[in-house]
Amino acid sequence: MKFTYSNPTVIHFGQGKIAAISKAIDSARKVLVIYGGGSIKKNGVYDQVAAALEGRQWREFSGVEPNPAVETLDQAVALIRKEKLDYILAVGGGSVIDGSKYVAAAACYDGEGWDILTGKHRVQQALPLSVVLTLPATGSESNNGAVISKKALQEKRIFSSNAVFPRFAVLDPDVIKSLPERQIANGLVDAFVHVCEQYITYPVQAWVQDGYAETLLRNLLNLSLQFKERDNDAWRANFMWTANQAFNGLIGAGVPQDWATHMIGHELTAAYGIDHARTLAIIQSALLRDRIEDKKVKLAQLGRIVFGLAPDVDIAQRTIAEIEKLYRSLDIPVWLSEAGVTDATAPDRIARNIEAHGLTKLGEKGEITPEVVRRIVAAAA
Ligand code: NZQ
Ligand code: ZN
Repeated sequence: MKFTYSNPTVIHFGQGKIAAISKAIDSARKVLVIYGGGSIKKNGVYDQVAAALEGRQWREFSGVEPNPAVETLDQAVALIRKEKLDYILAVGGGSVIDGSKYVAAAACYDGEGWDILTGKHRVQQALPLSVVLTLPATGSESNNGAVISKKALQEKRIFSSNAVFPRFAVLDPDVIKSLPERQIANGLVDAFVHVCEQYITYPVQAWVQDGYAETLLRNLLNLSLQFKERDNDAWRANFMWTANQAFNGLIGAGVPQDWATHMIGHELTAAYGIDHARTLAIIQSALLRDRIEDKKVKLAQLGRIVFGLAPDVDIAQRTIAEIEKLYRSLDIPVWLSEAGVTDATAPDRIARNIEAHGLTKLGEKGEITPEVVRRIVAAAA
């Protein structure tokens, strides 16, 4: 086991914590508040942020869409330059946070912003950025990654840089009271798959990472089982904290990681507009069945420890079935056709795009080639 681990994002967790912004951002900063389509105006979060920023110089930029587009975000970059703003406060879910990471990096780069996503520009510098999280799911509030789309190209790409780690993140579980059921279900599934990507690989005797991953998976399973009784403080707090811990670097430190489900999922969103979490539910079981020989020891461990399955010979298969059952219980589709996609060319199209993006050796062993991707997407149809 070898790793360097640091997560520099300060977490302000709990009810009423949005007020912490006023002390956490230096008063000399000129702040740009970035948000999405307006949910924060309806649920009181905007008012709490405005109250915390009272007496300071701040502007706002709204309209960041789900699967944030560079075409929208570049307008925020222009506003920062015009108004000489020097701090970003992202108020929203993964899309707003990721979009804000892009804006923070693009504002410090003279070239074409999309270069950040193609890899032509490696981000070393970004404006300071902090977050008020409104949707537990992605972990973006305290990690260094972002996923950005370009409408003109129908592409969705990722970048990561330690320069875009948020300085702090406010996690107030009360803000999720206004979340639609669909977004809560999406959040549970996204977080579950984040843990799986760092856990369902092969055993490396990483007892801390395994044990913590199993706790997070058990929490997500229990939160899902209690989905109908979710209107209480404990459910909300545990959901928010579990989703955060699922993808903040800790359980992935020093262990093999997969992420192929995510990479294929991003292509499905780019091509067909399916919600991020739903693409994962569609791809994951097909991928696990395809790679079952490589993953059977960890699948069996997951089945025993999280789902309480008996350790019979077919436990790996039954674990995959349990995962599907979990997603179904949340009304999440597990077939492409159930998400409304009946395009017979989908396997070829997704495999071609994966190849075009240079993702030719995916998975923890680098064995998921575009041809394997084609097979997995076909199996998920
Ligand atoms: O835009 P508003 O009006 O705020 O509405 C949003 C949006 O329509 C709504 N919403 C958010 N908080 C709410 C709320 N509605 C009511 N009450 C609230 N408290 O929810 C809708 C979806 O929001 P979005 O931010 O798109 O969802 P999510 O957090 O699931 O983010 C998905 C994006 O994150 C990327 C995905 O690819 C996708 O683009 N990811 C980012 C990752 C990262 N940076 O580490 C990792 C993930 O694997 C993922 O790829
Ligand atoms: Zn995800």
